[in-house]
Amino acid sequence: MNMNDTLISEPLEPQEMSTPVNRPVEDAGAQSAKVEEGKTVGKPFADDPKFKLRNVEVFYGQERAIKNVSLDIGRNEVIAFIGPSGCGKSTFLRCLNRMNDSIDICRVKGQLMLDDEDIYHSKKDVVELRARVGMVFQKPNPFPKSIYDNVAYGPRIHGLANRKSELDDIVEDSLRKAGLWNEAKDRLHSIATGMSGGQQQRLCIARAIAVSPEVVLMDEPCSALDPIATAKVEELISELSESYTIIIVTHSMQQAARVSSRTAYFHLGHLVEVNETSKVFTSPEHELTESYITGRFG
Ligand SMILES: Nc1ncnc2c1ncn2[C@@H]1O[C@H](COP(=O)(O)OP(=O)(O)O)[C@@H](O)[C@H]1O
Ligand SMILES: [Mg+2]
Repeated sequence: MNMNDTLISEPLEPQEMSTPVNRPVEDAGAQSAKVEEGKTVGKPFADDPKFKLRNVEVFYGQERAIKNVSLDIGRNEVIAFIGPSGCGKSTFLRCLNRMNDSIDICRVKGQLMLDDEDIYHSKKDVVELRARVGMVFQKPNPFPKSIYDNVAYGPRIHGLANRKSELDDIVEDSLRKAGLWNEAKDRLHSIATGMSGGQQQRLCIARAIAVSPEVVLMDEPCSALDPIATAKVEELISELSESYTIIIVTHSMQQAARVSSRTAYFHLGHLVEVNETSKVFTSPEHELTESYITGRFG
C-alpha cells in the first residue's frame, strides 16, 4: 500500500474514529488502558530475523525502563519505534549495539541475539559489534576534522583499506550512498562542522555506512533538521533500506509512515503493539496506540 494515500497528515478528529475510544484523555479511557506485561499486540516475530530479542528488561538503578519486551527485527527491514517521550525508545534502541554500556547504572537483562550471536555475551567484541550495528544520533555530531577524515575514520580504525586509493574509494562510495558526494567532492578537506546541519547529518550517515554495517540505528535523526534536509534524509533511508536493516526512532508519525514498513509502539517501557506501519496508523489494535496516533497524548 502506498502510505501517502492513507497517511493521516494531522491527528484524526475523534468523530472520524470508528472504534469506541472517543473519550477525552482525562476520561477513564486511554490513560487507564492496560498493557499486559510481556504481551504485545500484533506481529512481533519473524522468520529468520536479524535481531531476535526476548524478554528484554533494562534498568537504570532500581528503575525499570524497559519491561519484558520481545521483538524480532527482519533483514533489510525499516522498522520505526514510536511512543510518548520517556517511554523507552532510545533505551531499547541503544541495547542493540550496547551503547548503554557506557551508562554505569544501566543493566540489560533478557536474550538479545544478532544473527544467533548473543550481543551481551561476556566475550563479545563490542567494537566489532558497533561496526556491524552503526548509529546515527539526533544531533549531527561530526568530528571536528575534515569531511574526508570523518568518513575515513571507521575504515582506518578497522583496517578496511590497504592503501590510500582504497580508502579514497570507500570515502567516495560512502558519500555517494549518503547522497552527499556532489556537495562534498570539491571540499573533502574542509572542516566538516562548516557544513549545514542537513549535510552534517548525511555526513554522519556516510560515516556510519563507511564500515559496511549490517544495521543502522537512527535515534530521531531528523529532529534537528529543516523540512528540506529531513526530506533528503528520508529519501536516503529508503535507498539504504535495500542494503541495511534500519531501526529508526521518530516522534513524527508522518515520518514513520513515510519510511518504515513496520512500526512498534512503546508506552511506559512496554512494547504495546507492532504491526505493518499502514495498519498501526489506520487501524491500530491497541487502545493506547490509537490514543497516541490520534494525538490524545504524546
Ligand atoms: N541515563 C539515564 N539514567 C537514568 N534514567 C534514564 C537514563 N536515560 C533514560 N532514562 C529513563 O528511562 C526512561 C526511558 O527513557 P528514554 O529511553 O530516553 O525514552 P524515549 O527515548 O522514549 O524518550 C525514562 O524514564 C528516562 O528518564
Ligand atoms: Mg529518546
